Formats: sequence, structure tokens, C-alpha cells
Amino acid sequence: MGNLIDGKALAQEIQAEVAQQVQRMTETGIRPGLAVVLVGNNPASHMYVRSKVKTCETLGMRSEKVELPAETTTGEILPVVERFNRNADIHGILVQVPLPSQVNAREVLDSILPEKDVDGFHPVNVGRLVAGTATLKPCTPAGIIEILKRTGTQLRGRRAVVIGRSDIVGKPVALMLMHEDVTVTICHSKTPDLPSVAREADILIVAMGRPAFVSDDFVKPGAVVIDVGTNRVDSLERIHEIYGNDPQRLADYQKKGYTVVGDVNPGKVLPKCSLLTPVPGGVGPLTIAMLMANTVKAAELQRAAGQVRGRLGDIK
Ligand code: GUN
Repeated sequence: MGNLIDGKALAQEIQAEVAQQVQRMTETGIRPGLAVVLVGNNPASHMYVRSKVKTCETLGMRSEKVELPAETTTGEILPVVERFNRNADIHGILVQVPLPSQVNAREVLDSILPEKDVDGFHPVNVGRLVAGTATLKPCTPAGIIEILKRTGTQLRGRRAVVIGRSDIVGKPVALMLMHEDVTVTICHSKTPDLPSVAREADILIVAMGRPAFVSDDFVKPGAVVIDVGTNRVDSLERIHEIYGNDPQRLADYQKKGYTVVGDVNPGKVLPKCSLLTPVPGGVGPLTIAMLMANTVKAAELQRAAGQVRGRLGDIK
């Protein structure tokens, strides 16, 4: 029988470290600051952004939030980003995705200065990630690597299978694992016989967006399973199928009209794996912790760059 990983506890460990860095930087006159841009009414995005802003406050960081209506155009978002690019008190900028369909998301994300791109979505930062020289790495994949390291999971020489090839999770986590000397296979919706490929994994990362899709037939005995899915399920019948009569899940459904389900069926997978991240309370808290860590890192890099510019100024 495997154990559930306590993502909240790991995130708190990291946040305690970040809070100390924030305090040290603030004492030297630079208080790390994050700007968050949220467009539209996606309820999950609103919830994530609230958590991000609240965590900034808890850790002593500056935060600014701009909320724009669902019909906002690309041309209206770009000046907001530009204002934060020019604001020396803001070290990290995050535009929450998904953006409404009329917005050119690529153009918006590319307009963020690479040194303030705390999501690691800018092509310059994606290129650095591929090259193995990244400083600002995407938060969810970075959180997954922290989970693996902080649970003492051996990486070098082991096999990982990543199910899902998104720009935010699948592709970057595969690269990061490769840089840790893991042998990585990336699977997706067109991969034939997914369970047999997944069963080769010592470390199975699931980020496909299909509730409770991964069952025991995907899992090698003793594997570490990381569930990145966050799917809202509002069918009571389906909730019963996945969780039986679990009173906590039923209470959650009664309260909200839905419950958040990962891509892994925990009742089926937990008995077979060694470690599993629960949903909620697994990967999610780490994503936020890594965003905070990235914001401090961005502030440090900008201070160092400022000092270099200052010295060059002296020379002239
Ligand atoms: N939407 C879901 N995850 C993320 C994330 O890590 N960053 C941004 N900007 N939007 C998201």
C-alpha cells in the first residue's frame, strides 16, 4: 500500500525558505513584487489567482492584481503588461491562462520581459530550459521536481513516463527530468496501448485532463505517481464511482456542487504504488510555492543586473 504525499507540508517548507529570502532582500531595500493579470470569469482561474496573491502577502512580498473583463482585447492587455515591465517595484509578471479566445495568448505572453517571466513561458526562457541553463522555470514542473527530491525519490538512471504534452506541464517536466539523468518517455492521446507504456515507469507523471483515467493497470508496483489533473466533476454518480461513499468527497460535493478530481483514480492506484500525490493537496500547493520562489529569484537577478549596469555607469 502506497502513501499519499503531503503537498501542503512540502509547500510550507519551501515557503518558509522563501519568506526568509524575502526578509533578507527587504532589509536591503528591495521587496520582491509580483503582478498578476487575470482576464475574464473562469472560476478556477479566479481561485488560483486569489491563492497566489494571498501567498505573496503571507510571505511579505508586494503584489498587484489587475482584473480585466472577459471581452478585453489583446491590444488592451499589452499596455497593462508594458506598465509592469517598466515598473522597477515589480519583479515578476504572471498572466493567468487560459485567456479568452479573442485574445492572442502567445502575443501577450511574449510581451512579458523574459527576466520578469516568473511562469517561464516566454520563448527565451523555454529555450534556456531546453539548453539546461534556465533560471526561471515553469512553476508546476519545478514543483514536481521538488516533490520528487524532497520525498527522497531517486532520479538518476530511472525511467519516467509523462502522460500529456502540454507547454505548461508535459513538455517542461520531461525536459527537467531529462536534465536530472532520468530516461523519459512522453505519451499523449495518440499513443497506442498507454497502460503498457505507463507500466514501464518508476516515476509516472499524469497531466492529461481526464478525471480518474489512470487506474492500476497503468502502474508498475512500487512506482511514484504524480497526479497533475484538476478536473471539476459535478455528477454524483461519477463521484460515487470514483470515491465510493467517502464522506469528505460527498460533503465537498454537497457544499460546492462539484468536487475536484485528479487524472488518477486514487482508490485503484494507491494500493499498487509507493507514493501518490493527492488531488487536491498534492502538486497544487507546490505550484504556488515555486511561483513565490521564482519571484524572489527574479528580484535577485534584477538587482544583480542593476548593480552591473551601475558599475558600467561608474566606468563611463
Ligand atoms: N493556469 C494554470 N496554471 C497556470 C500557471 O502555472 N501559470 C499561469 N499563468 N496560468 C496558469
